[in-house]
Amino acid sequence: DLSPIDRAKFFAARRATDYVENGMRVGLGTGSTAAWLVKCLGEMVRDDGLNIVGVPTSLQTATLARDVGITILSLDEARWLDLTIDGADEYDGNLNLIKGGGGALLQEKIVATASERMIVIADASKQVDTLGAFPLPVEVIPFGWQTTKTLVEEMLIGLDVMGRQSTLRMNGSQPFVTDEGNYILDLNLRRIGNAQQLSLVLNQAPGVVENGLFVDICDAVVIGYSNGKVEVRD
Ligand code: A5P
Repeated sequence: DLSPIDRAKFFAARRATDYVENGMRVGLGTGSTAAWLVKCLGEMVRDDGLNIVGVPTSLQTATLARDVGITILSLDEARWLDLTIDGADEYDGNLNLIKGGGGALLQEKIVATASERMIVIADASKQVDTLGAFPLPVEVIPFGWQTTKTLVEEMLIGLDVMGRQSTLRMNGSQPFVTDEGNYILDLNLRRIGNAQQLSLVLNQAPGVVENGLFVDICDAVVIGYSNGKVEVRD
């Protein structure tokens, strides 16, 4: 008895396994949708003898992948990947994405960039005309984060965005800490007119490690619906 949204995520994930072939090195995304994918692949390894190597994008995914019996390598052991399958917080008509709602954007972006192809799995609620309703996650070095926050807000002046407020992501009363030991600023931009420009500008701030915009990285989005229907955009 899954909720409609979980069914939609599951159907997207299950369809995306069609892209996975024997012998592939597969980047394994992070989040609730990617977790379905990892479980489906685990089943295929166990029941159908699927032979793949997985490269996880977070400690959370590494743990799950191990639990379901997928052989995993670090990115440095694998070096290059055939395919990465991951969730997203938003995707637009050009297949540009916002990611990082789960805080794993840095490893996710490194792994996706090292992959021949990236496929996003999502339910239709993630689809937008213009990116930015979902607060944009920006990973920053803890040192001087308040200075970085102010600098980032200033750098947004004159760019095609509607808001400039950012907040430090919290985990209870403490800052949320990423797998890489960094903090996350969530930028409430409401509308991102030019994702490529914004991404380049953000990454120029010295304290910024990476941002959650994926521009020209994703090759296809597999969209699941609760009734079992699946659509592919590419
Ligand atoms: C993790 O850092 C994110 O990039 C996830 O891919 C994104 O938050 C999607 O998560 P869900 O599949 O849980 O919505």
